[in-house]
Amino acid sequence: MNHLNLNIKTSILNPEIIHFETIDSTNAFLLNRNEFKNGTVVLADFQTTGRGRRGRSWLSKPGQSLLFSTLLTGLPPGINLHGFTFATSIGVTRGLQEFAENKPINVKWPNDVLLNHRKVCGILVETKTSGNLPQKIVVGVGINVNQPPEFFSGELRFGTSLFAETGRKADRIKVLKSVIKEIDKAFADFLKNGFQHTITIWKQLCPYIGKEITIDTGKSKQTGIFRDVNDEGALVLETGNKIRTYFAGDVSIAKEKAYAPGN
Ligand code: BTN
Repeated sequence: MNHLNLNIKTSILNPEIIHFETIDSTNAFLLNRNEFKNGTVVLADFQTTGRGRRGRSWLSKPGQSLLFSTLLTGLPPGINLHGFTFATSIGVTRGLQEFAENKPINVKWPNDVLLNHRKVCGILVETKTSGNLPQKIVVGVGINVNQPPEFFSGELRFGTSLFAETGRKADRIKVLKSVIKEIDKAFADFLKNGFQHTITIWKQLCPYIGKEITIDTGKSKQTGIFRDVNDEGALVLETGNKIRTYFAGDVSIAKEKAYAPGN
């Protein structure tokens, strides 16, 4: 373990980050320890048991991706924690822009970032309350940076990396600086202007609203028109003459490559 100073100006996240070559999971690390302050960022070159959404694993090879988690504590009571999820995907989308070489980069509900309509980043938010300690939230981010196109086969076939889309290897630390700066801004914006404001910005980065999608909740699958993300952050789906809302699920977009449940 060592410290790495990103030398960037931030207001919430600590630019002096904790770096591991190998760790089980950066999310697990921050969730299971209480000595770290609000804004701590932990980065790993490799995770032995990287966690994905909905109990899946997040696979990576050493040094090819950005695997990091940020810790938030001491949050105002009543805050809608989903705001951090939406803010993170806004920050990642903006932070990756300069590395995307004019390929479209956008968000997919609830918290994926797609490059050229394939998943380039996954976000996993986990929370913990223990005894009298204040609630803490850990936002884990996995960004595929330098994986070659052939990495994305089999169950990973709907994923992509910056390198696979642009043909250029990127400097991971440069990408990290850019993404951390933008996540920091998006967090500050959320804390200042609130949840609905963050949802409004998020929707501007989502081209799938108004399109046909399928949502898979694990129990059932439903196809319809993605009408909106409501004030609670739920996906609003129109099927025939019915409107349904979903708080969780995997979205696939009809006629697009973006299926991307796991990666
Ligand atoms: C997803 O399934 O889309 C979310 C993937 C989140 C992966 C990141 S990598 C860094 C952090 N540590 C983990 O174990 N998971 C998250």
